[in-house]
Amino acid sequence: MKILVTGGAGYIGSHTVVELQNAGHDVVVVDNLCNSSEKALKRVEEITKKPVKFYKKDILDTKSLDKIFKKEKFDCVIHFAGLKAVGESVAQPWRYYNNNIAGTLSLLDVMTRHNVKNMVFSSSATVYGDPAFVPITEDCPKGQCTNPYGWTKSMLEQILTDIQKADKEWNIVLLRYFNPIGAHPSGLIGENPNGVPNNLMPYITQVAVGKREELGVFGNDYKTHDGTGVRDYIHVVDLARGHVLALKKIKDKSGLSIYNLGTGKGYSVLDVVKNFEKANKIKIPYSIKPRRAGDIDECYSSAKKAERELGWRAEYGILEMCRDAWNFQKKNPNGYDD
Ligand code: NAD
Ligand code: WQD
Repeated sequence: MKILVTGGAGYIGSHTVVELQNAGHDVVVVDNLCNSSEKALKRVEEITKKPVKFYKKDILDTKSLDKIFKKEKFDCVIHFAGLKAVGESVAQPWRYYNNNIAGTLSLLDVMTRHNVKNMVFSSSATVYGDPAFVPITEDCPKGQCTNPYGWTKSMLEQILTDIQKADKEWNIVLLRYFNPIGAHPSGLIGENPNGVPNNLMPYITQVAVGKREELGVFGNDYKTHDGTGVRDYIHVVDLARGHVLALKKIKDKSGLSIYNLGTGKGYSVLDVVKNFEKANKIKIPYSIKPRRAGDIDECYSSAKKAERELGWRAEYGILEMCRDAWNFQKKNPNGYDD
């Protein structure tokens, strides 16, 4: 298939471009590089030994998208482009709603005009809010999000659902990611956050590399086996492969489909620290801090639907996630900056 990957220079996008190219797809990337580097795409080329066609464009720039669609004739769009920092979204809601929602509306407008009615969308387990039950199945009711970022995902799911309901020519796959971590085993591409990391694993790897003194563990009085928050961490390469398999639903013209992409296993913050130490033989100093606003006790998936319908299951375990996250950090102490 000829596939447009929006946000393809980013963390999950770059890993997905690798898997798409390895599976023989023809990939074009559009990214404005607001949270990524073109070097990631050069590294993708090193891994796959195939060129990546890249347009440095904003998805809000409808005219430029229109020209790209006219030229490239896509079969499908995998839509990663978006802002994703939870705390920043609370401080800058307009920017998040504009970029993520208006950006997607601009993309949908162009897709409709060019009759490209196939999309795989990056959604998030955040749409379940504080989940009604765990393990979370896809029919678990969506919940109250605690921040504008989460609402953009929830609202975009609704928008895409309504568009597909109104026009059955659309085929849309909503993929709800749990907590992606790790990196390509080559150590060439990985997660490269700007400033102080918001998420657990990049914080741990920055402690390991000596950039930060210690990890702050946000709360140890949650209703979990050791009091720290439990999440479903998933290796980014497994997640990327989930996108390749999701294309099956597009090929089958399946209308609207929703899948969790997680491992089905929950690990606490302290479990992750222990596994990181075991995998990499590096001690991670930490201290207990107050809870972080908006955090929940536990969030982990039932991954059965994706296995049943897509033939997808996570292959990597927590030790490999920790090994590969560290491998990337160690080889690229300053991310993609030299
Ligand atoms: P990322 O920031 O590394 O990648 C997003 C990419 O989109 C970046 O390269 C950025 O430059 C680009 N982008 C943002 N706004 C754009 C715009 N207006 N026009 C063009 N490009 C734009 O983030 P990621 O972790 O790779 O996440 C990819 C997608 O998956 C996002 O939609 C994110 O919300 C979603 N998601 C991520 C996680 C996670 O924990 N990383 C979890 C669930 C869902
Ligand atoms: C994991 C656990 C923290 C950092 C976020 C978004 C979600 C999704 C994935 C995009 C929690 C604890 C963290 C630290 C800590 N993104 N922690 N010290 O909050 O599950 O999900 O990323 O869609 O929308 O909310 O991930 O990695 O931030 O936190 O103790 O320095 O680690 O409290 O229990 P989270 P996270």
